[in-house]
Amino acid sequence: MDLKEMVGKEACKHIKSGMTVGLGTGSTAYHMVAEVGRMIKEENLTITGVTTSTQTLIQARELGIPLASIDEVDHIDITIDGADEVDPNFLGIKGGGAALLYEKIVATYSDKVIWIVDESKMVPQLGKFPLPVEVIPFGSQQIFNILEKRGYRPTFRKTNDGEFLHTDSGNYIIDLHLEAITDPHALAEELIHMTGVVEHGLFLDMTNFVIVGEKEGPKTLI
Ligand code: 5RP
Repeated sequence: MDLKEMVGKEACKHIKSGMTVGLGTGSTAYHMVAEVGRMIKEENLTITGVTTSTQTLIQARELGIPLASIDEVDHIDITIDGADEVDPNFLGIKGGGAALLYEKIVATYSDKVIWIVDESKMVPQLGKFPLPVEVIPFGSQQIFNILEKRGYRPTFRKTNDGEFLHTDSGNYIIDLHLEAITDPHALAEELIHMTGVVEHGLFLDMTNFVIVGEKEGPKTLI
């Protein structure tokens, strides 16, 4: 079985009937959402899903998963999401799929967060994966210039047509090609205080456990 599918299915064992479940975004989360859809159909699971992107919303609707918006629920029991990099302290980079803002909001209001990753995502230090920074379009070139001066090697994320990529909130993404992040907490503080920055892809101290897909089987790290 594909490692992403393996961890997607494994994570669903933590979902119980009656729960409100945050549904993450990306190719790994896709398998988790598919499994939730199957459990609803074949096992009479009753849950309410809270999606983290338009992409996941479309998939969840197609599967008939009952949904509520983040502002309609009083709490989220568990959120299951993918990640781009995870270090040994469970600090992570997310946003490869440009859904970091909604993902971080949903994770923030969740009692429990599980990340599902294949083993290639586990790294000794964050930073090889470009760090996404979501910015308001107005003034984004100014932020870009500052990030460039600081040596963060920024690039605007573009679509295949060469247009600026717009997030679900209509913002732009600036990816920082840092190679190594020595102090993730300090960098997170720095980025979030830049005017025009909406959010960044450093997800620090936000996950309760990580399910890693390995050839031998899924491994849960707590
Ligand atoms: C989307 C994300 C994804 O969870 C992350 O990019 C991992 O995606 P994939 O499972 O496709 O590798 O943060 O914004």
